[in-house]
Formats: sequence, C-alpha cells, structure tokens
Amino acid sequence: MIYLDNASTSWPKPTVVPETMAAFLRDTAANPSRSGHILSIKAGKNVLAARTSVAEFFGESDPLRVVFSHNITTALNTVLRGFLRPGDNVVTTGMEHNAVMRPLRRLESSGVHISIVPCSSTGLLDPDDLRRSLNSHTRLIVINHASNVCGTVQPVAEVGAIAREHGIPLLLDTAQSAGCFPVHMKESGADILAFTGHKGLLGPTGTGGLIFGKGFDPEQIDPLVTGGTGSASEKEEQPVFLPDRFEAGTLNACGIASLAAGIKFISTLGMSALAGRKQELASRLVNGLMEIEGVEIQGDPLKEISVPVVSMTTKRISCSSLAQKLDERFEIACRAGLHCAPAAHMTLGTFPEGSLRLSPGIFNTMDEMDITVNAVRELVEEGSQ
Ligand SMILES: Cc1ncc(COP(=O)(O)O)c(C=O)c1O
Repeated sequence: MIYLDNASTSWPKPTVVPETMAAFLRDTAANPSRSGHILSIKAGKNVLAARTSVAEFFGESDPLRVVFSHNITTALNTVLRGFLRPGDNVVTTGMEHNAVMRPLRRLESSGVHISIVPCSSTGLLDPDDLRRSLNSHTRLIVINHASNVCGTVQPVAEVGAIAREHGIPLLLDTAQSAGCFPVHMKESGADILAFTGHKGLLGPTGTGGLIFGKGFDPEQIDPLVTGGTGSASEKEEQPVFLPDRFEAGTLNACGIASLAAGIKFISTLGMSALAGRKQELASRLVNGLMEIEGVEIQGDPLKEISVPVVSMTTKRISCSSLAQKLDERFEIACRAGLHCAPAAHMTLGTFPEGSLRLSPGIFNTMDEMDITVNAVRELVEEGSQ
C-alpha cells in the first residue's frame, strides 16, 4: 500500500512507537502519580519525561506548562469554552478546521461574537486584515498554523506581534505544522499552543495537549473536565496549579510515553532534515499532478514554507470516485471531501464538493510519488465512466 493520508494521521509509525507502547503496557502500566508503589512512580516518571520532551520540542522551558489531552480537538475546546464569555469577541480566519469552528459556533449561540478574517484564494491570511478586525471586546485570536486542506502556512509571527501589541492572547492550532517544520513557542508568537500527537509528531492516536506560555495565566480558563488528579485529594475543588487543573482522570500514559518516542525519533533524525524530505516528496507530487490536463491544485504547495498536504480537483471525475479507485485499483490511501474544514473549502472555492487530498509522510519514497501521479493520470484520462 502507498499511504498518503498522513494529514489525517501519520502511518506507519517509527517502530520505537509501538515498541514503547507494548513495553509500557507490559512493564509499567500502573496509574501515573496516584499510588506510592514502584510501578505508579515509574509510570509517573514516564509521563514527566514525555512532558519534558514535548516542552523541549516546542521550546518551552517549564514542562509543567504542558497539559496532556486526548487530541487537539479537546485541547482547543478546553481553551475556547473555558476562556470565552458572553459578550467577548474572538477573531479567527477563513481557513479553520471544525475543531475550532464547531466550538466557536456553539459559543456564538451563548453570546460570543466571532470575527472571521477572510484569506486569499490560496488560503493565506493578511495580518493587516486581522489587525483591522480587532475591537475593544476582542479577548482571543485563534488561528490555524498550517492548512489541513492545502498546506498553506500562515504568517503566525506577525499575527503574534499584533496580538501582543493589543494585549490579546493568541491560541495556535499546530495540528498540521508540528513535526513538519520547527515550531517554537516563543518564535511562533503563541500564548497558548495546541498540539496533536498522532500526525506529524508520529505518536499514537489519543494524544495531544496544550502548552501555556509564561505570559498567560491559565487560571483564566475554567477546566472543561474536573475530577481526580492524585493531588490535593483532601479538596473537592479542582487544583488551580498546572498541569492538574486540566488533567482530571487517568491519563493516556501509554500513549503519552509512545508520543515521547515519536518526538525522540524526529529529534534524532533532525527536524530540518525531515522537513526538507517531506517538502521534496510534496514537490514531486505537485509537479507531477500539475502536468495532468484538467487537474487543478489548491493553495500554493510549492511555496518554500508549506506543509506536505496536496489538494487537487478535476472536472473529469469526482474526488470521491478518484479516491475510491486509487484505493481499490492501486492500493493508494488518500482522502476525499471537505476534510472537516468547510470554511477552508469556501475560501479555496472548492465547497461543497471538496478535494482529493494526498499527504505524504517521512516514510514515503519518490517512487511512490511517481506511481501516484501515474495512477491519478490514468484515472483522470479515463474520466468518470
Ligand atoms: C488543522 C487541524 N486542526 C485540528 C484537527 C483535529 O485533530 P484531532 O482529530 O487530532 O483532534 C485537525 C485534524 O485533521 C487539523 O488538521
């Protein structure tokens, strides 16, 4: 099989990831930071080591400012629903995933105002447009670092500077950028960085979280979930300190330990080398697809800074048939449709049909890109019959 659905979840994982998971379940699977026995302490140490790896990976010096959750959707919900109040204004863009838009639409019905800054036809945000959309009620800016539809990377450092100038926190969705190029908490300008573990970070599903920058006070956020933390157990109120404020209930310690193995794998190979490799794969794919008559590519995927997410459309065959035939006839796994981001497709002019998305990962080869281009060419030329 040629797996080109890494924007959904990366596969295969480096062998150390399932190995770490199996070893954790076999040797260390006690509840972390609950009991005083050796296995619980060992599990707790594994989680702390993973917290430290995540913090270092994103350039945050205090691992306790890393909070784990089950995915980035839960992480984003934690901030959006715990921070915004009726009457607040939140500024976002026309390129967001439903992990941002659905919680925002829900909040809208309770009196939160949403300003959506339109992006260009390639999905790029103009920071000046964002600046103009801020008002005296704006309490949060939330933006997608890199598009899961077409790979466009937003000018987040400029957005971060505008946010700082106005004293408004910036929440950054790094679902597609983390693990594709270096993402640094401070340089990105984010006050709160949300990450998911199972895509570019090469960890397992069920992992993700938040990193709170030092300039942001997390006590401003009401936790989404409250409950046992193994700390301050004499109190029936949720602890205020990090990370316990946002980590009620038993953690996915097994997944978290394996996520650390994924991050270590990336760091050992070198983030920049890895980014270059992914870009080469995506460029080969894009250059090949662009030569097929009747194929249109969304976004600007040959731009120097972009993530390896390639979206294409053609009038000759529907994206869903194309994806199905690629799977059935060529064993090429990809995804068709709206990719949980209707707003982005409206921006790119591909709503409501969506696009065919091909997203290579580090384990793909150049040959696989060529095979895919040839398969798409054959199916497009054949048309919808
Ligand atoms: C930009 C973006 N944000 C959020 C998400 C949601 O990720 P998860 O399903 O890991 O919560 C995705 C997943 O595709 C995404 O691409």
